Amino acid sequence: MPKITVSVIKADVGSYPGHSRTHPKLLEKAAKMLKEEEGKLLIDSFVTHCGDDIELIMTHRHGVDHEKIHQLAWNVFMECTKIAKSMKLYGAGQDMLGNAFSGNVKGLGPGVAEMEFEERSSDPILIFMADKTEPGAWNFFLYKIFADPFNTAGLVIDPSMHDGFVFEVHDLIHKRRIMFKCPEEIYDMLAYIGAPSRYVIKHVFKPDGTIGASTSTQRLNLMAGRYVGKDDPVMIVRSQSGFPAVGEVVEPFTIPVLVAGWMRGSHHGPFMPVGLCDANCTRFDGPPQVICFGFQVSDGELIGPADMFDDPGFDLVRTRCNELADIIRAQGPFEPHRLSLGEMEYTTLPNVEKTLVKRWEPIPE
Ligand code: F6R
Ligand code: MG
Ligand code: MG
Repeated sequence: MPKITVSVIKADVGSYPGHSRTHPKLLEKAAKMLKEEEGKLLIDSFVTHCGDDIELIMTHRHGVDHEKIHQLAWNVFMECTKIAKSMKLYGAGQDMLGNAFSGNVKGLGPGVAEMEFEERSSDPILIFMADKTEPGAWNFFLYKIFADPFNTAGLVIDPSMHDGFVFEVHDLIHKRRIMFKCPEEIYDMLAYIGAPSRYVIKHVFKPDGTIGASTSTQRLNLMAGRYVGKDDPVMIVRSQSGFPAVGEVVEPFTIPVLVAGWMRGSHHGPFMPVGLCDANCTRFDGPPQVICFGFQVSDGELIGPADMFDDPGFDLVRTRCNELADIIRAQGPFEPHRLSLGEMEYTTLPNVEKTLVKRWEPIPE
């Protein structure tokens, strides 16, 4: 039996009002285009959104980075862009940076997380989708899920997880990667992944190489060379029977973690887990938020979704995120609410500085 591939490809191709949420007409179009491919290119599909990003969830048997799958996603986003433009939605086509498709959507704007695996006798997956933050936002959570025994009891008491996991970390600036075997190398790994704007966890594997998690790592700013919004990442996590249990995978999201993004992609703010009905960015264009859909994969069919954060178990973290938002918002344009200067280089700030550059003069001795 050929392996199953899960592909999650996302883009912001226009929203309303402003950068707040996607329009139902775009979601309908995307869902229809994917449905037409079920039984042909795809086995199954599901379309949703988090804030202003459309998320295409697809299963198939063609492996990762498959040209036809990426072409399909590109075509869907192009068609949605047309609708967005016809309604003058805000930022219509904003993530379609490439002029023409050439085999892979990577580097063209859309974000991609994919994984190929042999389906187990029962195979639960959790798909996380975020808005108003960057790919490194997953670092903290992946560390907690796959390396922290205070989060994941199975690391201690389940023999099938006792050997730990291997993390593939990418350096987004120098385009290089490194593998860390955990728990042996957690201190080495934390030295890097604690700087999530540059170092991001791309994959997590079992020691035998079986895939456990996959994230999107595109950074639009680095690709475009100018401010084009944050990258609003996605992540796929496999669960149960040798992987962290579903409850262990969602548990770290009870911690109100500060991430980079939010207003103008230039502010730190609390990463709030929400149900789909609340996945609309409003306050200060945010706060940064994440939804999680759970599925059982059955011969490639997606049984679900279960809207995992639509649960009172996450009410307290939402309240704490709101409190944190009040506290950090009060700092207005001051760091550390505003990102550090190095990070602001990839925003619109350099344009402001250009107008002032001639007015600076040496300080007299
Ligand atoms: C953040 C985001 C928004 C915009 C902000 C200004 O990722 O997309 O916060 O940066 O609404 O948007 P413009 O410059 O288009 O008016
Ligand atoms: Mg937008
Ligand atoms: Mg977005």
